[in-house]
Amino acid sequence: MAQPDKTLKTELKATNTKTPLESLSTILSDDMKEVNATILTEMRSEVPLIPQLAGYLIASGGKRVRPLLTLATSRLINADMETSYLLAATVEFIHTATLLHDDVVDGSDERRGQKAANLVFGNQETVLVGDFLFSRAFQLMVRTHSIEILRILSEASAVIAEGEVLQLQYQQDISINWNIYKKIIGAKTASLFAASCEISGAIAQDTRAQAHLKAYGYNLGMAFQITDDTLDYDAKQEEFGKALGDDFREGKITAPVLFALEKANEQEKEFWHRTMVNLDIQDNDFAHAKKLIKNHNALEESKNLARDFVKKAQDALSELKKTSSNTLNEETLSHLETLPEYIISRLL
Ligand code: IPE
Ligand code: IPE
Ligand code: MG
Ligand code: MG
Repeated sequence: MAQPDKTLKTELKATNTKTPLESLSTILSDDMKEVNATILTEMRSEVPLIPQLAGYLIASGGKRVRPLLTLATSRLINADMETSYLLAATVEFIHTATLLHDDVVDGSDERRGQKAANLVFGNQETVLVGDFLFSRAFQLMVRTHSIEILRILSEASAVIAEGEVLQLQYQQDISINWNIYKKIIGAKTASLFAASCEISGAIAQDTRAQAHLKAYGYNLGMAFQITDDTLDYDAKQEEFGKALGDDFREGKITAPVLFALEKANEQEKEFWHRTMVNLDIQDNDFAHAKKLIKNHNALEESKNLARDFVKKAQDALSELKKTSSNTLNEETLSHLETLPEYIISRLL
């Protein structure tokens, strides 16, 4: 892959320097403790299976990117932190609910390096606990008494569901194009990243900051999902924490395949059609798909596409800096500035 990001990742490792995500986790660790406490309290229920199943996924880690974004952007613009804790827990609940539903829909076996909840507890149980977490998220946001916050998070929740449905409709459909692909990932992933950041502006009632933070989160989310889609063909499984090749086996046409398709000859087009449209997949086909993707430079191209969104995220922060009437918190600002590039440097 392209050198600059490889250098960033290897350099951070070699010099034992924290990644932006680790730095944010460190400087926000007291805040995150509050958020984790809220998560634990609020997943309680009289129905024991609910905390059992939800706790199974929540305790297995996860990067906690979205709540960290809420906390960091709140600190950045000096928003009220008590409200931020509540909403950071809320966005992680929404995220957890979508993961539970998504793994049922995708028939996934593995999540966060362990068996997916649907395999351990069953599909019906997993869907229903996902519903509980979604509903609990709404109970939490109501506590802020802010219609604006309700607007942001209810809209994001509806848009995520639209994105998942749209993706389902374009599964095994080779007529999918860049516009539709971007619409899908914008809805299923970037919308929650956007909301996680935008709510800090709403807490502070700073409409200008709110717009820039929304743009930052949205573009970061786009870069994040394109990276995730690319890793599905390129990651080391231990680091990815989920099975490789899921998108391929399910006929989900994502950035690396779209780039490979653009350059495909007739024989290659037939290959993509047989595998991703007909799902007639033999043992060696995933290896062959990876080879075609590599030969056509489609990993590089996907990374370049992700980089376009990184640039837009950085621009949004620059705009915030230029236009902000209040002093921004320097420490969180510096990590938010390097986070987008780090997100795509996960691509080796
Ligand atoms: C997984 O999100 C779903 C995608 C949008 C690709 P994360 O990669 O943030 O998942 P966790 O929370 O860290 O497991
Ligand atoms: C993640 O989508 C689910 C949502 C963003 C709602 P994917 O299906 O692409 O992600 P993984 O690979 O399962 O994490
Ligand atoms: Mg999935
Ligand atoms: Mg999915």
